[in-house]
Amino acid sequence: MKKLFVFTLSVLLATSAFAVITGSAHDFQGYGWSGGEICVPCHTPHNALVPQLVPLWNHTTAAGPWSQYVDVGTGTFDAGPIGQPAGVSRACLSCHDGTVAVDAFGGAVGATMIAAINPAADFTTDLSNDHPISFPYTAALAAADGELYDPTVALSGLGGTIDVDMLFGTNLECASCHDVHNTAAVAGTPLLRITNAGSLICLTCHNK
Ligand code: HEC
Ligand code: HEC
Ligand code: HEC
Ligand code: HEC
Repeated sequence: MKKLFVFTLSVLLATSAFAVITGSAHDFQGYGWSGGEICVPCHTPHNALVPQLVPLWNHTTAAGPWSQYVDVGTGTFDAGPIGQPAGVSRACLSCHDGTVAVDAFGGAVGATMIAAINPAADFTTDLSNDHPISFPYTAALAAADGELYDPTVALSGLGGTIDVDMLFGTNLECASCHDVHNTAAVAGTPLLRITNAGSLICLTCHNK
């Protein structure tokens, strides 16, 4: 029994040892341009860029414009039309739209585009075929839609409401679904906050 406990504990510890950014897709220590650091492509302790898209932002900001998701003709996209990506999502797009080099930080121009590392992670500036981002997901939107959970009431499964655990202000952003630092470390997923087994992450917000 104790052996089993020790085994289980060591498995848990081994798992939690990876429940961090180190070793994740956002750990660029292996690239010469990182200087062997992890945080620096995105954050700096001093002289952060203004506006600080995210706290102490250090990466050259993509300029856009981006083609946002629009109603495809079904008349069902109640949040639309939505404006340009801002804040946290614009930070993601500063590498993930393929217009600014991944190693463009701390004043360097950089040379490594994301497609050279992982072509599937380059969404280009055409986001019209991607899940909508950078718009308010409110109780009013849920009521208008009829098939969304009220984010101020519905639990996310992460300890609080959808609003508290997944939204930025009231906005749905890339980082609503993704955990840039991999602290949630949902194994076998691309930095998701919640597993997509059984489409669980989708069913967290969509009442289908
Ligand atoms: C690939 C880019 C990237 C890297 C690398 C990165 N961060 Fe972040 N960080 C972000 C983004 C984007 C946000 C805002 C979104 C969020 O909080 O989920 C953020 C937010 C934060 C915040 C404020 C919110 C919070 O979670 O408390 C802290 C603190 C932070 N990062 C620390 C770090 C540290 C320390 C490292 C290195 C060990 C690091 N980050 C590496 C992109 C990055
Ligand atoms: C400094 C550039 C940079 C920023 C900023 C950045 N990423 Fe990434 N991200 C990358 C690169 C490069 C990869 C591909 C790494 C690889 O495949 O080895 C990646 C991979 C990913 C992956 C795939 C992970 C996997 O396991 O396949 C996800 C999801 C992701 N990023 C989400 C985000 C989100 C969400 C944000 C903003 C909150 C963000 N990224 C900000 C550079 C960045
Ligand atoms: C509504 C939830 C949601 C939002 C918002 C979202 N994603 Fe994702 N993303 C996912 C899911 C789920 C997957 C895994 C899809 C799969 O495995 O088929 C994924 C996959 C990815 C991947 C891996 C692609 C690959 O094939 O390697 C990257 C990179 C990524 N997302 C980045 C982003 C960025 C950047 C944004 C914002 C511009 C964003 N995501 C917004 C849910 C989301
Ligand atoms: C954090 C909450 C959240 C998560 C997680 C999420 N969605 Fe959404 N999704 C929304 C909101 C809010 C809208 C906007 C709905 C509207 O305005 O009609 C939306 C819009 C959509 C739309 C467009 C609807 C239309 O009428 O044009 C589709 C399709 C969709 N989501 C599918 C998914 C799928 C599939 C997943 C899982 C991979 C997912 N969503 C995960 C909140 C979420």
